[in-house]
Amino acid sequence: MMKENLSEQDKSVLLDHDYDGIQEFDYPLPFWWIMTFVLTTLFGVPYIIYYNFMDGPTLKQEANIELEALNQLRTSYAVKMANFEQDTYAAVMADDGVNKGQEIFLENCSPCHLESGGGDIGPNLTDNYWLNAKGTKETIYEVILNGREDKGMPIWREDLTKEEIYAVTSYVMTLVGTNIEDAKEPQGELIE
Ligand code: HEC
Repeated sequence: MMKENLSEQDKSVLLDHDYDGIQEFDYPLPFWWIMTFVLTTLFGVPYIIYYNFMDGPTLKQEANIELEALNQLRTSYAVKMANFEQDTYAAVMADDGVNKGQEIFLENCSPCHLESGGGDIGPNLTDNYWLNAKGTKETIYEVILNGREDKGMPIWREDLTKEEIYAVTSYVMTLVGTNIEDAKEPQGELIE
């Protein structure tokens, strides 16, 4: 554009420099641009302080928090899918379930959890610390039903009937919280 065609205003802010025929105006930066700069800077200061100098979580910690939430979701989904039937459980209990469950336990579970339930290869079932189950009959039932094969707890739904799994669940419930002596050290999360 020729200089003569410029408005008075443009002319007044035209800089003297000439870069290979290109000249520039000295207009202030747009308000929105300045505000974006100011706001991001204001945001950045506490951000840096929180994440670098205070106890803001690291990426790894944030990932672990999300993983933990995912695990909880997975557990609650597994428990839902296991479809614990309160009526069947009550019926099995009424039919000498705990004693039957004890027999099943001594036969199938004691090799790993010991006859006392105090734990050996498998965890102590008499304390209130849990790796997979959450100390409730629903969650214990689910762990027995589906096992945790990758961690060494067999799947029982193929070897025991549903009634037997309810029975052994009711027996395990009588062990929970008895905190027998000489048991395996606590593993997992404390759930009162
Ligand atoms: C071959 C060894 C083995 C046998 C047999 C076994 N378990 Fe386990 N069990 C384990 C192991 C190992 C774990 C822990 C899995 C883990 O680390 O996540 C476990 C976990 C459990 C849990 C969950 C504990 C927790 O802290 O969340 C329960 C409940 C349980 N077993 C009950 C039983 C019952 C009932 C039987 C018999 C029907 C049985 N187990 C048989 C090895 C065994």
